[in-house]
Formats: sequence, structure tokens, C-alpha cells
Amino acid sequence: MKKILSIVAALAVSAAAAMAQSVDQEIAERIAPAGETCMQGDECAAAVAAAPAAAGGAARSGEAVYNASCATCHGTGAAGAPKLGDAGAWGPRVDKGMDTLYTHAINGFNAMPAKGLCMDCSEDEVKAAVDYMVEGSK
Ligand code: HEC
Repeated sequence: MKKILSIVAALAVSAAAAMAQSVDQEIAERIAPAGETCMQGDECAAAVAAAPAAAGGAARSGEAVYNASCATCHGTGAAGAPKLGDAGAWGPRVDKGMDTLYTHAINGFNAMPAKGLCMDCSEDEVKAAVDYMVEGSK
């Protein structure tokens, strides 16, 4: 009888351990791995906080949008992007008309991605960034 009791006790302990393990696993599965979540106050959230969406707030300036989204390519000429300040590269584009440039910036044009990848930019903010580049490239 004593032996049976100890076996039962041992089984109960291992069952409890197995249960604890599966609960741990369940919790681990339920919470996303670190790096995939970005909590307010974390460093990864700083960039988002630094560039507030237009909704509710004042529209960002063309310069701010340029620096945040367009400079990656238009500051370096990456992928053949016309560089800010390069009048030779911008002149022929400006000759197509500002409306064409706005449309291409908003909808994309060859390797130029739609909205310059600024997905939370309003169309006006994208246009302001185009103006900023064109003005700075005369
Ligand atoms: C991933 C790189 C990349 C980013 C980011 C990017 N551009 Fe461009 N952009 C390009 C490339 C490449 C071209 C040249 C496309 C071509 O002429 O074939 C271009 C061309 C343009 C043109 C000229 C279009 C035309 O009709 O000649 C405008 C205007 C423009 N970009 C605006 C912007 C604005 C505004 C932003 C930021 C909101 C931006 N771009 C961000 C790559 C980029």
C-alpha cells in the first residue's frame, strides 16, 4: 500500500511537472519573441514616435519627410534616384511638369516606390517632399 502511494505521488509530481512545462510553452507561444514586439518607450518605438503620422497632427514639412523617407535613395543616388541638389538630374524631370512628378512620387515610377515608402505620409506630405527636392536642386 505504501509503495502504491509513493508511485501515485511520483506520477502526480511528474504529471504536474509536465503540465507546468506545457503551460510554460503555451505562454512562450502566446507572447511574441523579443524583437518582434515593440513596446512604447522601447528604443525601437522611438523612430515611430519621432515621425508622428499626419492624422490629428500638423502635416510634416517637405524637409522632414525628405529626411525621414526620401534621403535614403535621393541623398545617395541609390538605385539611380536623382540626387537632391543635382540640377542636371532634376532639370529634365521638372520639365515633365510638377503634376507628373507628384503623381510619380505618390504612385511610384520604375524603381521609385509609391510614396517613397512613407506609407503613413499623406499625398500633400509627399508633394511637399517633392517640392523640397525640386527647390533644392535648381
Ligand atoms: C527606394 C529608393 C527611393 C526612395 C525611398 C524614394 N525614391 Fe524617389 N526615386 C527613386 C528612383 C530610383 C527614382 C528614379 C526613377 C526613374 O526615373 O526611373 C526616383 C524618382 C523620383 C522622382 C522623379 C519622378 C519622375 O517622374 O522623374 C520624384 C519626384 C521622387 N522620386 C520623389 C520621391 C519622394 C518625395 C520620396 C520620399 C517621400 C522618394 N522619392 C523616395 C528611388 C527612391
